[in-house]
Amino acid sequence: MRIVDIIEKKKLAKELSREDINYFISSLVDGSMPDYQATAWLMAVWFNGMSDDETAILTEAMINSGEKIEFGELTDKVVDKHSTGGVGDKVTITLIPLLAAAGVPIAKLSGKGLGHTGGTIDKLESIPNFSCELSVDDLIKQVNKIGVAIGQQTGHLTPADGILYSLRDVTSTVDSMPLIASSVVSKKLAAGSGNIILDVKYGSGAFMKTPEDAVKLAKLMVNTGKKLNKSIIAVVTSMEEPLGRAVGNSVEIIEAIEFLKGNAEGSDIAELTYDFAQIALLQVGICRDKQEARKLLKDLISSGKALDKFRELIVAQGGNPLVIDDYKNFPQSKFKIEVKSDVDGFVNRIDAYKVAYGCKLLGAGRERKNDPIDYSVGVFLNRKTGEYVAKGDVLFTMYANDEGKALACEDYCRAAFSVSTEKPVIQNQIYEIIRP
Ligand code: URA
Repeated sequence: MRIVDIIEKKKLAKELSREDINYFISSLVDGSMPDYQATAWLMAVWFNGMSDDETAILTEAMINSGEKIEFGELTDKVVDKHSTGGVGDKVTITLIPLLAAAGVPIAKLSGKGLGHTGGTIDKLESIPNFSCELSVDDLIKQVNKIGVAIGQQTGHLTPADGILYSLRDVTSTVDSMPLIASSVVSKKLAAGSGNIILDVKYGSGAFMKTPEDAVKLAKLMVNTGKKLNKSIIAVVTSMEEPLGRAVGNSVEIIEAIEFLKGNAEGSDIAELTYDFAQIALLQVGICRDKQEARKLLKDLISSGKALDKFRELIVAQGGNPLVIDDYKNFPQSKFKIEVKSDVDGFVNRIDAYKVAYGCKLLGAGRERKNDPIDYSVGVFLNRKTGEYVAKGDVLFTMYANDEGKALACEDYCRAAFSVSTEKPVIQNQIYEIIRP
């Protein structure tokens, strides 16, 4: 079998066999296939897609490329949540300590930044010394000990996703339904939890631009789970504007900590976190209805128990927990630049993609595979959609280390804002929930 023939077959939009896909993935992981062949194949898949059967076979091959986590008797209680990627999406970071504090064991395999979207691993690694490089044994032990662990694709866990993910990030091959579905579902199935909840995003900051496409992707992921005997719930949500106010790495962790401290009630971040937490609590049977779940979750925030769980998680994964008490313990940017509005009116829209692109220019994301990330840079949106801004008020704040990059970022972020005299109607964040 030759890799070039497998590329050729996909280039001609033919269906790949199980043997083709298994050979491609094993050559990827054993290092015998060079990056240029892998990326040619990715681009052929981007153009010609894959059938549902090919997607399930690819997902299975990716799971089998590494070890699998097994929780034994705990499996049916363990929850895992994953987002298909957005801008300012720190819901994993707010949700995980909250659910763990409610007694729900959480085992999560996350990813780094992908395309224009931020990655949970990059955000968490802005906490000095925090590491997501957990072995399978360490991950299981940590879940048993403190009820929560966050790992990443490594040489041991879904290594095929780790390699393809970093190639897709820099070759414009991210926004392909079978590639997203196999990447997400392989990580979730390898991580061994019995309850998988996916946040499938649509909008300017997501890989799926329309709700209809996000529903298609959600159904593909739920069906891929079914073909591999795993029940998955997919929640389709809006990513038209950044989630929350902070976009970057450390700035997003700070916003998540503020939520855990009880300082973000009523915000879009708080609402989406509670929505996902409610689904999980009902799914594992800890609560009987939404009202009971909501009350429990609010108590965990107001009592400080969710924040304590986050502190425990940071300590367990080697990070400096003092970031919670003093944000100066995060890497600091040289410049803090406030950008003011030159008009009066209501913010009607904030284009999430443009804000993400601006942040990438500051250094918050990667241009090439192994580029370092600047954890200290980012953007804070002083105004969100629906809020009034007067001429001269601060519209957004940039944290930057380079004035030239800040100027470029300012252009993108300014262009992201639409301001008008009409107050817009705020849309519901959840579009549809798809169950198996
Ligand atoms: N998240 C993933 O893990 N993979 C994707 O392809 C997109 C989002």
